Amino acid sequence: MTEPEPPSVAALSVAETATEPVSQATEQTIDPWNVQAGVDADGKVKEFDYAAISQQWATKLIDDALLERFEKVTGHKPHRWLRRRLFFSHRDLDLILDTYERGDDFILYTGRGPSSDAMHIGHTIPFEFTKWLQDVFDVPLVIMLTDDEKYLFKEKLKQPEVYEFARQNAKDIISIGFDVKKTFMYIDSEFFTSGYNRHFSLNTTEFEKLITNNQVRGAFGFDGSTNIGSNAFAAKQCVAAFASSYPFIWGQDHKTYHRSKQLAAIPCFIPCAIDQDPYFRLLRENCGRMDQSSPKPALIHSKFLTALQGAGGKMSASVSTSAIFMSDSEKQVKNKISKNAFSGGQETMELHRELGGNPDIDVPYQYISYFEDDDEKLTRLAAEYRSGELLTGEMKKECIDLMTSYVKKFQDARAKVTDEILEEFLRPRKLEWKGNQNPTVKKEDKKEGEGDAAGLDADGKPMTKNAMKKAAKLAEAEKKKKEKATAAAAKV
Ligand code: TRP
Repeated sequence: MTEPEPPSVAALSVAETATEPVSQATEQTIDPWNVQAGVDADGKVKEFDYAAISQQWATKLIDDALLERFEKVTGHKPHRWLRRRLFFSHRDLDLILDTYERGDDFILYTGRGPSSDAMHIGHTIPFEFTKWLQDVFDVPLVIMLTDDEKYLFKEKLKQPEVYEFARQNAKDIISIGFDVKKTFMYIDSEFFTSGYNRHFSLNTTEFEKLITNNQVRGAFGFDGSTNIGSNAFAAKQCVAAFASSYPFIWGQDHKTYHRSKQLAAIPCFIPCAIDQDPYFRLLRENCGRMDQSSPKPALIHSKFLTALQGAGGKMSASVSTSAIFMSDSEKQVKNKISKNAFSGGQETMELHRELGGNPDIDVPYQYISYFEDDDEKLTRLAAEYRSGELLTGEMKKECIDLMTSYVKKFQDARAKVTDEILEEFLRPRKLEWKGNQNPTVKKEDKKEGEGDAAGLDADGKPMTKNAMKKAAKLAEAEKKKKEKATAAAAKV
């Protein structure tokens, strides 16, 4: 008998890995159609890593210095969602503050994909924040309801049903308290067939021509089997950020084939969840290539709200126990928080008194942090929870009180949104706003070439073509100088 051969290296490593448990680790995925937290080696869902996504996409984290400037420029204490970094990242928010400081116009733009008629707090919070921004800045706001997008991307949805979702969602959004005089809301399938969309469509076609299949595949992970509507859709969500897509907001003619260069130059500021950023990167990279060039839109990004089941989970419109829905009864809200909300407390009261709870993973505490404006109270709740003084049931009660009053206020407002009110929001029309009434940087003080967004000179008179060209050149040089300076500063 011959000696058995020693196992080869390859066989050895197979044997070794076979005895070790297979790692279940996966990275987090964040894109407009897929949001999934990472999983660790044991298959446990991790928290989202927002610092990592910000770094990967080269956005800027919101810091105290920016918030101090925000307060100084706007005269408003930053919203608790800024202070607590639920809105945690941005692109060029500082430039929007510059614009506001000069008293120049800009527009706010946000939207929602109406994939269901059940909206939960994860859907309403970005709109609450947008409404606050509208109150602070007093600028026009456009809200895009992308029934076309949801129809294209969701196999099962039919056009009439997704249109109906959009109408119901629109009423929910109105209930948040937007000022109809300053807000134009539209449902894509309706607006795009209304005749008021001529400039929007011209912008769309021009933008579509600028973007190749390779670019959208790179940005969104599409491939050759993706339907052509999905490939093209991004152009619509992008050009929706151009003020020139909505001439009627400024009382300008929407029938002419000539889009307004003046309007194209008006900056845009977009509050959105971080997963929407790939759209707007595409826009920022290409808006300067439009015939009538538009400035890069500024963005402010939110995190995802914690699902009732805890960190890493996502609120889902189809899982009733994953979130507080705006249509939930008082009893449902109470039950969900008592029974479904993940607790960072201990198993028994004795253990809790002894060891204390962990507010960082406690969902009722997280929800309190979304709605309790008093910073000191919030800090106190966390400290008392950690020390074991505050019990799980007491934390839950605080949460239930806040959530039931939020939902009730919403429902009372929702009951008053009639079809007539909805139609008024959806009607393309001239909007009314005041902007910054007390610009701290006087137009006269402006450096030449700055703040010429509306094509007006320092005296507020329209500029000649040559003056505009000169201003644009100067602005470009100024921008390059600034970029160099920041690059140099970053190296130090
Ligand atoms: N694509 C978004 C969604 O599915 C809807 C949307 C359109 C949007 N335009 C936007 C969201 C601008 C934020 C900002 O929900």
